[in-house]
Amino acid sequence: MSNISIIGLGNMARTIAARAVAGGNAVEVIGRDATRAENLAEALGSGTRAGTFGTAPAGDIVILAVPHDNAAPIVAQLGHALAGKVIIDITNAFNSDATGLTTAAGTSIAQEIAKVAPAGAHVVKAFNTVFGHVLAQGRRLDVLIAGDDAQAKATVAAFIESLGLRPLDTGALEMAHWLEGTGLLMMGLGRHGAGTFDFTLGVNTSA
Ligand SMILES: NC(=O)c1ccc[n+]([C@@H]2O[C@H](COP(=O)([O-])OP(=O)(O)OC[C@H]3O[C@@H](n4cnc5c(N)ncnc54)[C@H](OP(=O)(O)O)[C@@H]3O)[C@@H](O)[C@H]2O)c1
Repeated sequence: MSNISIIGLGNMARTIAARAVAGGNAVEVIGRDATRAENLAEALGSGTRAGTFGTAPAGDIVILAVPHDNAAPIVAQLGHALAGKVIIDITNAFNSDATGLTTAAGTSIAQEIAKVAPAGAHVVKAFNTVFGHVLAQGRRLDVLIAGDDAQAKATVAAFIESLGLRPLDTGALEMAHWLEGTGLLMMGLGRHGAGTFDFTLGVNTSA
């Protein structure tokens, strides 16, 4: 069981929170609107709490379920309150029509978050290659992750397993650039080859 805090009250926050509660995790939801956070916590049930935005999250794992351009500023603002935490960045950095990334070559939102995270906090990229509405269907999906700290990745992998999902490690945090590119690729597939956004990207081995 993990003790998690989710910052954001939108689609991904609600979907991950619901699967996390179902998986027996202790969940805290945090949003700018305290009433909406309390309502979501009540709807999720099973002891889910509403945290206070801008104060130290209770969870050992903190999930940033906010737009990509707000993620690093939130981490910078929380500063030392995130020391020792595992920070999961789920963001996709699409441009306005989702045909390109807003990040420069050689970096990623996750790496920009890591630059402003306090000492002892570890950033792991995860969940950006699953569509929220597919995640909500409850199926066992592959969740690609990347991060520099082996222990932090193991913590995130165990959390992902508890959601009935399969974590797949893609390597160091620099791989987050390519995971964010994969999110963009999924938009292209949805619009073109797949012809639907009701799909998931996974790995099949022949072994
Ligand atoms: N939707 C998907 O299928 C999907 C899949 C993979 C990854 N993602 C990524 O997941 C993230 C969340 O996506 P979503 O679909 O859940 O978006 P969403 O439904 O629009 O929710 C975004 C949430 O972020 C909150 N927020 C925005 N700025 C904030 C700030 N400065 N401080 C605190 N909270 C803030 C919003 O709060 P207010 O309600 O107060 O505005 C809202 O609750 C995005 O980065 C997206 O790229 C989405």
